[in-house]
Amino acid sequence: MGPGPINADPRVLRAMSAQLVGQYDPAMTAYMNETMELYREVFQTANEQTLLIDGTSRAGIEAAIVSLVAPGDRVLVPIFGRFGHLLREIAERVGAEVHVIEREWGTVFTEAEIERAILATKPKLLAVVHGDTSTTVAQPLEGLGELCEKHGVLFYTDVTASLGGNTFAADALGLDAVTAGLQKCLGGPSGSAPATFSPRAVEVIDSRKSIEAGIAGSADEIHATRIRSNYFDLAMIFDYWGEKRLNHHTEATSMLYGARECARLLVDEGITAAVERHRLHGAAMLAGVQGLGLATFGDLSVKMNNVVAVVIPDGVNGDAVRGELLGDFGIEIGTSFGPLHGKVWRIGTMGYNARTDAVLTTLASLEQVLRRQGAVVTAGGGVGAAYDVYEDAR
Ligand SMILES: Cc1ncc(COP(=O)(O)O)c(C=O)c1O
Repeated sequence: MGPGPINADPRVLRAMSAQLVGQYDPAMTAYMNETMELYREVFQTANEQTLLIDGTSRAGIEAAIVSLVAPGDRVLVPIFGRFGHLLREIAERVGAEVHVIEREWGTVFTEAEIERAILATKPKLLAVVHGDTSTTVAQPLEGLGELCEKHGVLFYTDVTASLGGNTFAADALGLDAVTAGLQKCLGGPSGSAPATFSPRAVEVIDSRKSIEAGIAGSADEIHATRIRSNYFDLAMIFDYWGEKRLNHHTEATSMLYGARECARLLVDEGITAAVERHRLHGAAMLAGVQGLGLATFGDLSVKMNNVVAVVIPDGVNGDAVRGELLGDFGIEIGTSFGPLHGKVWRIGTMGYNARTDAVLTTLASLEQVLRRQGAVVTAGGGVGAAYDVYEDAR
């Protein structure tokens, strides 16, 4: 019940145990096409280039940034938590001229603040995290696509923590690049990064294309803006997933089975229904921790559905509570990073764990452990308040 990774859905684990097939086996290429189609629905996009990047979520981030941004290009990163710092660091490593604006953790930017920064820095790319897991809040993306369009800026977001559990529609938001991971609301393991790229982004990426010698007969002429990574060269990855099936890396077959199953689960449930499930169980968990008398961290008006940050009460040893929950109840909750380290726990309700039994058991166990650790909590207040949320929804 942490901020991810979480228990994978058993259907995903079963899918991943299927036998391997060769990368050009018609069954495999059909799975690749099917996976592209499924993720178009998950991301709510018509983008042709909707595919998997092999590696954990940051592989998706690196692929997007290294392929869109050449050394010296300007990138604007609004930072409101740990993962904004990650976007900044990756853009810096690519050699971009990176500009940041920062906000206190637990808060988000206004559209006007972002527009002012765009006007001041004139970036090629606006790179912003949607839900920053470190603080549990999500930056509203509405309006930013229009801003980017108006000022000729490419618009990228990292939806690792939010996709599938919070309302999100790539095309309606005017996004050019979006990357995710499986290990949060999608109910899978880490290790595959679903991603989507608009025609405008594809044009930028393809203009930097160079094909490896030994693949296309002779090596392309190397141009100055060649993408500075082979593994994350999206121009080559597009050709691998596209009709040409031009060889690049060996697709991570079992991860593809897992990623495909994660998307099938969401599409079978219905994206709107899945978001509503996360909303309901997130609301029950929030009411539950408040019902125990605990304080929460961050602006609740922009809290992600799938995770809550709980302030560790004075005098309570946060790690001891986590240790007892794990050791005695088999329940993991999260710690936090940077300025929040030792100050909050993060409790998730996502993917396979966005369930009534998981929420109620966690709250009942937390109450017992907190009492043993000397915290003053409202007896039965957690489970009671969560039950009220479920009753109201019936
Ligand atoms: C919002 C966000 N971005 C990126 C990452 C990095 O993902 P990974 O550890 O899968 O590379 C995480 C991980 O929790 C995340 O929550």
